[in-house]
Amino acid sequence: MKEIKIGLIGFGTIGTGVAKLLQANAGLIADKVGAMVTLKKIADLDVTTDRGIELPPGTLTSNVADVLDDPEISVVIELIGGYEPAKSFVLRAINNGKHVVTANKALLALHGEEIYPAAAAKGVQVLFEAAVGGGIPVISAILGNMAANNFTTVLGILNGTCNYILTRMTQEGADFGDVLKTAQELGYAEADPTFDIEGVDTAHKLALLVSLCFGTKVDFNAIHTEGISSISSADIGFARDFGYKIKLLAIGKRTGDTVEARVHPTMIPVNYPLADVDGVFNAIRFTGDFIGPVMFYGRGAGMDPTASAVVGDVIEIARNIIAGVSRRCAPLGYRDEAVTTLALKPMGEIEGKYYLRFSAVDKPGVLAKISGALGKYDISIESMIQKGRSAGESVPIVIMTHEAREKDIRAALEEIDTFELISEKSRFIRIEDNLE
Ligand code: HSE
Repeated sequence: MKEIKIGLIGFGTIGTGVAKLLQANAGLIADKVGAMVTLKKIADLDVTTDRGIELPPGTLTSNVADVLDDPEISVVIELIGGYEPAKSFVLRAINNGKHVVTANKALLALHGEEIYPAAAAKGVQVLFEAAVGGGIPVISAILGNMAANNFTTVLGILNGTCNYILTRMTQEGADFGDVLKTAQELGYAEADPTFDIEGVDTAHKLALLVSLCFGTKVDFNAIHTEGISSISSADIGFARDFGYKIKLLAIGKRTGDTVEARVHPTMIPVNYPLADVDGVFNAIRFTGDFIGPVMFYGRGAGMDPTASAVVGDVIEIARNIIAGVSRRCAPLGYRDEAVTTLALKPMGEIEGKYYLRFSAVDKPGVLAKISGALGKYDISIESMIQKGRSAGESVPIVIMTHEAREKDIRAALEEIDTFELISEKSRFIRIEDNLE
């Protein structure tokens, strides 16, 4: 049987999962590919830690050139994450004529424009299923069976760490810091967990999904990115009172040549399937012009699911190699000249419903002042609650609005925050309750 040799850079959590999977399911993979897929070399700076896996002698090396420059290796898996040296390694692998599989969403979201043309010039594939949604095969679906569609929406819960934290805060009233620590111990979090918590990891993934779905380059820095560190148990409680859950959502929408790409905590109705996506699970919901709405659900982080996505990409490449095909599809699924550069819609122009929370002194007339300011900016109130009664003290007042423009919401809140009766900065959370 023919043998396809691969090399792995990065022997951390996911790398270990990949090595284990390739060993455990070697026979199955050979039956599916029609060739043995063999892990020839693994490069990592740490060659001493016991990862609980036995490797043939000589597999592990601290010299990355043993992977990148070995002419027998036809596929390089990059799992070190981050920008450098990952970018240099990926480009060197490509220049050496090797196909690349990576889980590195940060690298592709910021430097895809350098990597994709390099791969095109060499006629090699760059596959990155594991970069979005852990083990969930969304990218294969966009590039493959959903390719006939014009997408209008892609919306998802894309960060297992944040979803795990929000779920435990919602279900148990757990403390943010304690839950984050557990997520790190379980191997869900990024090396720098602020990337998870502040929404950056989700934005990296959204950038890739928007490019894949809408065929446009995305200026990563133009994606509005907010994380979950400002979400309080009070907001979670009020959301529940109004029939919503708070999730960190990645939202991509296309209307004509207008594209929205934003990441922020979002209230969604409890009866939406997305509201039931809990713990480390991710879900991605697409709307295509022919397929309609379709949702993918599965484990979005962790060693085994992510390894499954990485090895799935290796199998795709191995099958092409066996068929004598070097590359059937560009990384974004469009021919290069067809990829456009559409500007992202400014956040001020976004329209939707909003949850507003004010801390106001409990005094006659305070509501009239707040609602007057909202009216001035054309913001109509759908419902309202005031919790507690404490004359002369601060109490929370929560207002749900009808459709409003974000710049009006911001302007109204800025004005309201100047009122003497307002004791804390007012907060807002966007609501998504009108999915096609
Ligand atoms: N840190 C990421 C998460 C891992 O929590 O979802 C998968 O990209």
